[in-house]
Amino acid sequence: MSVLIKGGRVITAADDYVADIFVENERISLIGESLDLAADTVIDASGRYVLPGAVDPHTHLDMPFGGTTTIDDVESGQRAAARGGTTCHVDFCIQAPGTSFADSLADWKSRAEGKQVIDMGYHIAVTDLKKGGSLEELASLPDQGITSYKLFMAYKGALMVDDETLFKTMEVAAETGALVMVHAENGDAIDVLVKKALAEGKTEPRYHALTRPPETEGEATNRAIQLARVAGCALYVVHVSCKEAVEPIMLAREKGWDVWGETCTQYFFVDYTFLERPNFEGAKYVYTPPPRDKANQDVLWDAVRRDTLSAISTDHCAFLWDGQKTMGRDDFSKIPNGGPGLENRLQMIHHFGVGDGRIGLNRMVELLCTGPAKLFGLYPRKGTVAVGSDADIVIFDPEKRHTITAANQESKSDYNLYEGTEVVGDIETVLLRGNVIVENSEVVAKPGIGRFVPRARFGEHLQAEPAVEAA
Ligand code: URP
Ligand code: ZN
Ligand code: ZN
Repeated sequence: MSVLIKGGRVITAADDYVADIFVENERISLIGESLDLAADTVIDASGRYVLPGAVDPHTHLDMPFGGTTTIDDVESGQRAAARGGTTCHVDFCIQAPGTSFADSLADWKSRAEGKQVIDMGYHIAVTDLKKGGSLEELASLPDQGITSYKLFMAYKGALMVDDETLFKTMEVAAETGALVMVHAENGDAIDVLVKKALAEGKTEPRYHALTRPPETEGEATNRAIQLARVAGCALYVVHVSCKEAVEPIMLAREKGWDVWGETCTQYFFVDYTFLERPNFEGAKYVYTPPPRDKANQDVLWDAVRRDTLSAISTDHCAFLWDGQKTMGRDDFSKIPNGGPGLENRLQMIHHFGVGDGRIGLNRMVELLCTGPAKLFGLYPRKGTVAVGSDADIVIFDPEKRHTITAANQESKSDYNLYEGTEVVGDIETVLLRGNVIVENSEVVAKPGIGRFVPRARFGEHLQAEPAVEAA
């Protein structure tokens, strides 16, 4: 099966030029000017951007959480991703208490079986090193393509680990070359604040934010950085939301430490006041860390511009407002934490990031595609448009207008964080390894076409040989 993409403006993290792209056997085999080649499919991309398929390093599909399960399973979540120009994501396999990592992975993989419309990998979320997974088992995971360990420093009584578990995992990572990811919030302090607020009758959604002040994120971020330094591992701080967390990351990176951070689309656009919306509408914006004061939005744009933060993910963790978020009508701590976002990351960052002059096109590609692919062992197979890379390609019309609304989204959630926002620039066609999975902005993928992608260890792309062998 061959595809010829004609005359598009190819944009990578480094380059910007007009060219034709020839795809054979799922990979890009040739890039050149006016290629005169016969192909099974010819796509006219003139006037369009040709971008690498976006890579989302932070999603939660089919995840039991907060007394319920996310509304998007692998199929609906990946359909949303495809519509949004994402062709590969790394989801979290959460170790169930008392369960080995192998059993947890088998469980999560079985939930994806036959449903995948894009490619995916897993991070392992370590919750229990005493009764379930062992340090030895953890050390064996990178050989199976699971090259990142995630730890939650919050959600006391659920996913939270203590510092002993965090530090021991970091020591294993230092040995195996895995990347340690942290949800950095001080879960103990937050637990005290939540209980106090509820005892005082403070039950509305806005108390979700008021009981998780930015300092609790800043403290945990700094703690994780210092512990990673002692253990000697590389660290990636997920969903950075505020100045208090940006600053320690900036300091560590200035010192040349192996510390990286991401933020998520929603932190640029949703602020604390959204939680105050009447009639329990505020619950739609209950995710963690919470929406912050608006001043943090400029801090985050500045951080992604300067590479203090190196990736923008979605943290897609979608619930219904009606029936799931409403579980917390009388108690904000019972509102399942999370929001949708996989479908709109590229549209929103293109419109408000590039369109409003905050970042350039190359930086957009770096933050959404190349950066995450490099950090998570997918590059150069994913995250760029280059000869030899998987033909994961987005044909993006920079002029096309689109109004974001839950009424026509792929996600099964009954709301959208950006409801009613009109963006200029939309995803027109998406190819996954040369297969058209989105056509005329409609998902046409057949479930089962997506694959599990084993990932290389952190930093292996810097070595001379390709980090990931051909499939
Ligand atoms: O509220 C959020 N972010 N839900 C997903 C779990 C997490 O903390 O990433
Ligand atoms: Zn988190
Ligand atoms: Zn998350």
